[in-house]
Amino acid sequence: MPAYETILTEIQGRVGLIRLNRPRALNALNSVMVSEIMAALEAFDADDSIGAIVLTGNERAFAAGADIKEMSQASAVEMLTNGYIDTFDRIRSIKKPVIAAVSGWCLGGGNELAMSCDMVVASESARFGQPEVNLGVIPGAGGTQRLTRAVGKVLAMEIVLNDRRLTAQEALQFGLVNRVVPVERYLEEALELAQQIAARAPLAVRFGKEAVNHAFETSLSDGLADERRAFYFCFASEDQKEGMQAFLEKRAPVWKGQ
Ligand code: HXC
Repeated sequence: MPAYETILTEIQGRVGLIRLNRPRALNALNSVMVSEIMAALEAFDADDSIGAIVLTGNERAFAAGADIKEMSQASAVEMLTNGYIDTFDRIRSIKKPVIAAVSGWCLGGGNELAMSCDMVVASESARFGQPEVNLGVIPGAGGTQRLTRAVGKVLAMEIVLNDRRLTAQEALQFGLVNRVVPVERYLEEALELAQQIAARAPLAVRFGKEAVNHAFETSLSDGLADERRAFYFCFASEDQKEGMQAFLEKRAPVWKGQ
């Protein structure tokens, strides 16, 4: 693993863990940090010993948004050409499941980063919002799109137009997070979930992630056709033979990712 300036990485079993590490700025996402997050995600994605990835901050903040100091003086052309927001897009090409473990502030670009992950485990203290309107801008890394798909139009409007913040329980109620746990447990819970998924058949997990994501991008008939092709393709894998044989022999399967 390369040495990073703004994040910490480690490997626990088959899970890669990325911690945002600018605590004094509430993990505000400056351009170095966004590049490093994507580089670490891509490094874990390319590592066969890793089956799932957890992205986290600290108890006080997952991330309080894009770094306002860094972008306050930028021109429109600089924002367009500096690649900052394009860097966020790289998360979409990660093939392994990414789980956000969120505690404290999860605002602006921080919430956009969490929503770009595949699942979210939240602590009771997590607070979600898109406060860009207070700065005279709008969300720019998916906040109006992913949020609306998750929570629906009227609530998304309130969050984006009037800085409505959601508690962890509200985020659970509206489908923004998978589960809410006590602060002491949110990271452990996310790591446990990641270890469970990482122990499953790698190709089935990969195809499952792709197919669920596809549901947000395509028509139902195209999505169903793609799902069917991926389902048939599973039968070309050794893991399909092993999984079904193990069931019939009443034993645990041994996955090869082949
Ligand atoms: C830069 C930030 C920051 C941010 C906090 N800090 N958020 N620095 N960018 N987004 C810094 C503060 O300046 C302060 O630094 C330190 O972190 C602690 O923050 P406080 O404000 O003192 O903490 P607190 O009173 O607890 O308030 C927490 C907070 C508040 C409610 C989260 O910090 C806040 O409103 N932050 C901004 C949130 C926001 O607007 N996010 C959207 C950004 S725009 P010092 O040096 O004074 O100690 C965005 C656009 C995305 O995300 C576009 C695409 C990616």
